[in-house]
Amino acid sequence: MGDAWYREKVETLYTPEQIQARIRELGAQITRDYRNRPLVLLCVLKGSFMFAADLARAIDLPLRVEFLGVQSYGDDTTSSGVVQITLDLARPVDAEDVLIVEDIVDTGLTLDYLMHQIQARNAATVKICALLHKPARTKKQVSIDYLGFTIDDVFVVGYGLDWAQKYRNVPEIGVVTSPTGG
Ligand code: IMP
Repeated sequence: MGDAWYREKVETLYTPEQIQARIRELGAQITRDYRNRPLVLLCVLKGSFMFAADLARAIDLPLRVEFLGVQSYGDDTTSSGVVQITLDLARPVDAEDVLIVEDIVDTGLTLDYLMHQIQARNAATVKICALLHKPARTKKQVSIDYLGFTIDDVFVVGYGLDWAQKYRNVPEIGVVTSPTGG
């Protein structure tokens, strides 16, 4: 993956086909659970842009897509839990059913912050759909209503996820096995 461009070594964890198959299942489950109720799909930028685009197409409900940009401070591979909103919601979500779409839940600090933010904006319900979860690194327990895959304590890239802004455009999800390329 990305061998021609970057120095890190990356091994495939989930192929595009595996990702799409799981998203179809999540979409069907969400469609059943919300029973024709309108839904606000809240895409958390940047990492979730690809997942949210595919998930939206797998959900058969009246649906609005909103974007929230967040940046969590830390070094390249760990978040500090200090979250900055880089792009706010364009429209209010009060009295609406909101589904937060996250790429990955690592320590849980970002999602915990987001849950409180959206609840404070008086949404009728707030649920979470995450593509990946790394339970080994949990610092803040958050309940994930819809989960794609549980993974080990590894750093993953691709399908929206980055390593210093690289690899977001790669269609599969891979594990960085050799950060220095050695
Ligand atoms: P948390 O606050 O520790 O749960 O971190 C959440 C954010 O950290 C995610 O939305 C990602 O942007 C980033 N992150 C955590 N683990 C990874 C990873 O393995 N690859 C890429 N980004 C990650």
